[in-house]
Amino acid sequence: MSSRIANAELRKKVVSVDEAITHIKSGMRVGMSGFTGSGYPKEVPPALAARMEAAHAAGQPFKVSLFTGASTGPELDGALAKADGVQFRFPYNSDPTTRDKINRGEMMYIDMHLSHVAPMVWEGFFGKLDLAVVEVSGITEDGELIPSTSIGNNKTWLDLADKVILEVNSWQSEGLDGLHDIYYGTALPPNRMPIPMVRPDNRIGQPHFRCDPEKIVAIIETDKPDRNAPFTKPDATAEAIAGHLLEFLMHEVKVGRLPKNLLPLQSGVGNVANAVLAGLMDAPFGNLTSYTEVIQDGMIDLLEAGKLRMASATAFSLSPDVANYMNENAAKFRDKIILRPAEISNHPEVIRRLGCIATNGLIEADIYGNVNSSHVMGSRIQNGIGGSGDFARNAYISIFVTPSVAKRGDISCIVPQVSHVDHIGQDVQVIVTEQGLADLRGMAPRQRAELIINNCSNPAYRDMLRDYFERAKRGAYGMQSPSLLSEALSWHQRFVDTGSMSQSPAQAAE
Ligand code: COA
Repeated sequence: MSSRIANAELRKKVVSVDEAITHIKSGMRVGMSGFTGSGYPKEVPPALAARMEAAHAAGQPFKVSLFTGASTGPELDGALAKADGVQFRFPYNSDPTTRDKINRGEMMYIDMHLSHVAPMVWEGFFGKLDLAVVEVSGITEDGELIPSTSIGNNKTWLDLADKVILEVNSWQSEGLDGLHDIYYGTALPPNRMPIPMVRPDNRIGQPHFRCDPEKIVAIIETDKPDRNAPFTKPDATAEAIAGHLLEFLMHEVKVGRLPKNLLPLQSGVGNVANAVLAGLMDAPFGNLTSYTEVIQDGMIDLLEAGKLRMASATAFSLSPDVANYMNENAAKFRDKIILRPAEISNHPEVIRRLGCIATNGLIEADIYGNVNSSHVMGSRIQNGIGGSGDFARNAYISIFVTPSVAKRGDISCIVPQVSHVDHIGQDVQVIVTEQGLADLRGMAPRQRAELIINNCSNPAYRDMLRDYFERAKRGAYGMQSPSLLSEALSWHQRFVDTGSMSQSPAQAAE
C-alpha cells in the first residue's frame, strides 16, 4: 500500500486504528463521512464497534451520536448498530440492522431534508460536534485533503469538529483528484449570499478540503473498497414505468414546455429510479445534463454513451462492478462529473434556478397526490425522506414513480390517505406507476383523484378506490378533498390485522 500522504508533518500522524479510536469517548457527537455506500470510513467504525462491545461486556456504557452525509456501508452503520453503539442517528439510513433498532425504539433517529443538515449543524441545533472521521483519497504536499467518492457533509464536519481522524484510502482512484468542487461561500443569516451557480456544470469552489492540521489527531491508511449494494436488473414493471415517463417527457418537448435536451435531471435512490435512467439510453434525447444527489449506474452508462453531457452530484452510488470500473477510469470523467457538498447539490435555491426535472421513488401516494416516501404503515421507517423533499418542492417538474402494488400485491401503493406525509400534494406534480401516468399539474383535488385512480392504481384495488372516493363525495365533511375520516386509514389497519389490504370476499359482498 503506497502512501497517499504527501505532507511530511501529517505523515507523522499516521497511527494504528486502535490508537486512533482512543480519541472517541462514550457520549460524543461524531460526524462521519459516507453517502449511499461510498466514501465512508472503513477502519475506525468496526474497531470502534469492537471496543463498544468490550465495554458493554464489562458493564460500561459506550454509545455515540452519529451524524453522516446519508446512508453508509455495513462496516459503519451495520457494525455500530450491531454493537448497540449508536444512541442518536441522523440524517438518513438504509442499513437493515440500524432500521430494526430504530423501529424497535432502541435508537433515536431524525430523518430530515439533506439540504438542511449542514446549515442546522452550523446553527448549533445539534450541539457541539466533538469529532469527525472522514475518508479522503489523499493529502497534498501543502496539507489539503483530496476528497473521495462522496462529499456529503464532510466540509462541515472538518470545519466544526474539535478533533479530526482521517482515513486515507488508497483503494480510491487517484484520478478522482480534480473532480470535486468544494464551495466555501456558505454563511448563516443574515450574511447569506446567493449561490453563484447558473448551470449544472459551473465550478464555484475548490477541488480540496481545508482542515486545520492542529485538529487532526490521527491518520489511518487503508485500501478497503467502498461497498455499495447492487441494483436489481429492471423488470417489466420498472420498464413500464420508465416507458410512461419517457413518453411524458417527449410530449412535454413536443408542446414546448421542455427544451429538446430537457432540463437538468435529478434521479432519486432505488431500483425504479435507476430503471428510468436505463430507459433514457434508447430515448430520443441527447446533450442531457444532470443536477442530482447521487450518481447511479444508469448515469455512468448515459455518460459513456454520450447521451449525458455531464452530471453534478454529492456522491457515487454505484453497484460493485460499476464502482470498480469508475475506480479504474475516474480521470476520464473529470470533465463530466462534479461532486459537491450535499448542501449545494440539494440547495433549494439552485434546484429552483436550474429548473430540475426531479424523479423520486415513493412508498405510497393517496388519491389526492400526497406522498409518503419514508414510513411503512404510518410508523415504521424504511429509509427516510433523504433529498427527495429538497428536489420535489423546488423542481421544474416533480415526478414520483412506484410500482402500483408492493409485497406481491398485498399492499396497494395508491391508498385513500397516506399513513405518513413527506410530500404534500402541492409538491407532487406527476405520479407514474406501471399502469400509467397522472399529470396533476393544474388539477384540483377531486380531478387529481380521478386521474390517480384511473391511471395509476392497480386493477386489483381500483374498484375499492373508486367506491371509497364516490362514498367520500357523498358523505364527507367537505367537498374540497373529500375524505371519510373513519375509513381513510382502514386499508393500512387491514394490512396490519390480516397481512393484506385487499378485502375478503365476504367484506367485498357487504
Ligand atoms: N408499503 C410497504 N412497503 C413498501 C411499499 C408500501 N406501500 N412500497 C414499497 N415498499 C417496500 C418494498 O416492498 C421494498 O421492501 P423490501 O426491501 O423488503 O423488498 C422496499 O419498500 C423498497 O421498494 P422498491 O419497490 O424496491 O423500491 P425502491 O428501491 O425504488 O425504493 C423507496 C423506494 C421509496 C423506499 C426509496 O426510493 C426511498 O427510500 N426514497 C426516499 C429517499 C429518496 O427519495 N431519496 C432520493 C433523494 S435524491
